[in-house]
Amino acid sequence: MTSLAVTARSVADLSADVVVLGAFSGGDAPTLAVDLPAAALDHLTTALSALGFTAAAESSVVLVAVPGLDARRVVVVGLGARPEKKKALDAAVLRRSVGAALRSIIDAERVAVALPVPSADHVAAVAEGAALGAYRFTAQRGTSDAPTVVDTITIVSERGRDSAVKAAVSRASAVAQAVGYARDLVNTAPNLLYPQTFADSVKQRAAGTKVKVAVLDEKALVKGGFGGIVGVGQGSVHPPRIVSLSYAPAGKKSKLPHLALVGKGMTFDSGGLDIKPANHMANMKSDMAGAAAVAGAVLAIAELGLPIRVTGWLGLAENMPSGSAQRASDVVTMHNGMTVEILNTDAEGRMVLADVMTLAGEESPTAIVDIATLTGAQVVALGLEVAAVMGNDDEFRTRVCSAGDDMGEDLWPMPLPAAYRKGLDTEVADIAHKGGPAGGMLTAGLFLQEFVPQVDGEAIPWAHVDIAGPSFNEQGPRGFTPKGGTGFGVATLVRLAELLSQS
Ligand code: BES
Ligand code: MN
Ligand code: ZN
Repeated sequence: MTSLAVTARSVADLSADVVVLGAFSGGDAPTLAVDLPAAALDHLTTALSALGFTAAAESSVVLVAVPGLDARRVVVVGLGARPEKKKALDAAVLRRSVGAALRSIIDAERVAVALPVPSADHVAAVAEGAALGAYRFTAQRGTSDAPTVVDTITIVSERGRDSAVKAAVSRASAVAQAVGYARDLVNTAPNLLYPQTFADSVKQRAAGTKVKVAVLDEKALVKGGFGGIVGVGQGSVHPPRIVSLSYAPAGKKSKLPHLALVGKGMTFDSGGLDIKPANHMANMKSDMAGAAAVAGAVLAIAELGLPIRVTGWLGLAENMPSGSAQRASDVVTMHNGMTVEILNTDAEGRMVLADVMTLAGEESPTAIVDIATLTGAQVVALGLEVAAVMGNDDEFRTRVCSAGDDMGEDLWPMPLPAAYRKGLDTEVADIAHKGGPAGGMLTAGLFLQEFVPQVDGEAIPWAHVDIAGPSFNEQGPRGFTPKGGTGFGVATLVRLAELLSQS
């Protein structure tokens, strides 16, 4: 695992295997964005122009033996155009660009990063992007060599001794670790990661932290009347689990806001008897990315000691076809007593989330966020990089989106049109779990809305985050995002907890 540090020393004085330097594009040639010794600046200016490097954002070149610098290898990373006078430097560009630079680095243990960082927020963005770009998934290597993982990343900042800058770096470290954990969970093969082993991993990870983990096994789920998750899991040889992760800072717990996070954790979604075509099933090990994001976020929030109570709830199951599998036209009774008609066994996530949300409500939290790889319709609507946010409270939904903005994750608001609720009407149960083909992301949200718990007769503020697209990157790597599991949502949830703890 990569650790982060910050230094107030100048780049020239740093001994590292690799130094990453930022450059702005524009004019005839790129300009280095940080102060350098004259010899280094001369050499780099000539070299960059000889290479035809334009410093487009996220592009980079490697140079060796740069005079005036101790490091043997130098990576110059493009930051795009220098911001116009008085316009702030875009932290999101820094985060992505440095992420791309760290992704490109092989065989290095110590990396120093010198990018323009005018504020603690910029330091945070650079630290986060760098640590996320350094992520490698190595756990499943057998006889082939695993890539070297960077050991330490040192961020160069003139104000490296300021407490705000140091705090930004420790926060980045906690967030990056949690994102890395979520990515590892998503990347792990589904024969290895199933509900029980997922629960075991969380327990192991939480040991020695301020997070308490509790697990409901299949017997407890049947006994508790969790017909939604039990029904989804009944076709698999790996029975379902609900895992809770509770964190509260020491002291006056009752006065604090209490955020409940609910994650969809389908360790594999074959579709069930309504089996998916092969090309739609291939990446369905990632159907637990919501649960992974929740697990990572709670661990990071606890590590940061935020003044807020947080409970994470993971609904873990495997959706498989078999003689004991759920059928289309089954009617199940949910934990809250409602009956649901199953119309398509591939619309399983909402059944799990609905039961888990009811359970989360039993602690009367002040707000609930569920996060899930819920619908293919989300991918159609917003593509592979932007998540959708729905909810019962516009202000809270906006907050979730802006938490994402702060952390370089794109989330966009979507409506829950009351007019579409009738699509879930059925004559054979209280509600059907899906509507027609149109607006599938929204009707999934409307179904979940029926299960938002109430406190004193009022629905708890709730946001539903559909991450079907952004949770898994099957194209090429980009910015700080690798191929495979992205860890999307962890940073947003941590930031949301921070925002809620401040208000
Ligand atoms: N896990 C899928 C949604 C999904 C699709 C996630 C693509 C990531 C990428 C979900 O369980 C599902 O199968 N949804 C169905 C619902 C339909 C049957 C109503 C879908 O969206 O097609
Ligand atoms: Mn499905
Ligand atoms: Zn699914």
